[in-house]
Amino acid sequence: ERRINWDGTSLIKYDGFWFPVRLFKPILSAQKYFKAKDTDIILSTLPKSGTTWLIPLTFCIVNRHIYPIAQSPLLTSSPHTIVPFLELNLYWEQTNPDLENIPSPRIFSTHMPYNVLPDSIRESECKIIYMCRNPLDHFISYRQFLLKNKIEKDAKPLDIDEAFDMFCQGIQLYGPYWEHVLGYWNAHLRNPEKVFFLKYEDLKKETTLYIKKIAEFIGFPFSLEEEEQGLIEEISKFCSFENLSNLEVNKTGKLMGMVEKRSFFRKGEVGDWKNYLTPEMAERVKELMENKLEGSGLMFKNYS
Ligand code: A3P
Repeated sequence: ERRINWDGTSLIKYDGFWFPVRLFKPILSAQKYFKAKDTDIILSTLPKSGTTWLIPLTFCIVNRHIYPIAQSPLLTSSPHTIVPFLELNLYWEQTNPDLENIPSPRIFSTHMPYNVLPDSIRESECKIIYMCRNPLDHFISYRQFLLKNKIEKDAKPLDIDEAFDMFCQGIQLYGPYWEHVLGYWNAHLRNPEKVFFLKYEDLKKETTLYIKKIAEFIGFPFSLEEEEQGLIEEISKFCSFENLSNLEVNKTGKLMGMVEKRSFFRKGEVGDWKNYLTPEMAERVKELMENKLEGSGLMFKNYS
């Protein structure tokens, strides 16, 4: 089954999810060839859920003994260059890239839904950190991103009402939104040691607390001494929107030759949807949300 996405790009349905046609091959290659190691850390998100934030946080936690902040590779390279996407970078560029010699712990990012991940990720002892974002901000952030980056040459973006209607029907890259989030939520409930479930809004509100939790989850807990030295606050500040978005490396140039690096840093706020969506639209999502998440134990309280 095929459809046209809100930005005019072509989507194909596979395993219950919508994928860009051009990503179909890399996803199949990743499924076939990617061999997870027990020490791997997989950062998984729907697009526009704060992947560009989760990457530097995780990278700084893991590499804090190798790179003091003042020498961080994040000062001179984009987060997406330092932690590549499985399907958007590695298996896009090569069918079977050699990833064996990357020093452990290897960190990779992906937007793949839980049931589409390569089997070895689910079956190994590797850790998955999933970050989601409330549906309304996710939709607006995504729409603004797609308007800025024309991914296919002749693609014509839809107006906001049509795009919103498609979003509610679940038609978007890596969507339906609900199934993506619920797939990881249920995996987290089944095995909380394997899947850490994080909300953008919580990370925003209590950044240092969640940095601590992430560090513990991936087996790199902060010592009392490090805490007393203020290392968690230092990482939090370094990875903040204000700091990273002002680095020259994140302001200019493109990724994969087509996506403006600066478009990964737009506002970085909770509730920006109010500047674009009507209360009726929000109500429609609220009803959908109650329906879709009913009985799951998952809620988005602070989405408005
Ligand atoms: P907005 O468009 O609402 O500003 P992704 O990285 O998954 O593509 O998500 C991008 C969203 O995360 C954008 O949201 C972007 O501004 C926000 N973001 C990027 N870096 C951030 C940071 N360091 N802190 C908070 N939000 C950040």
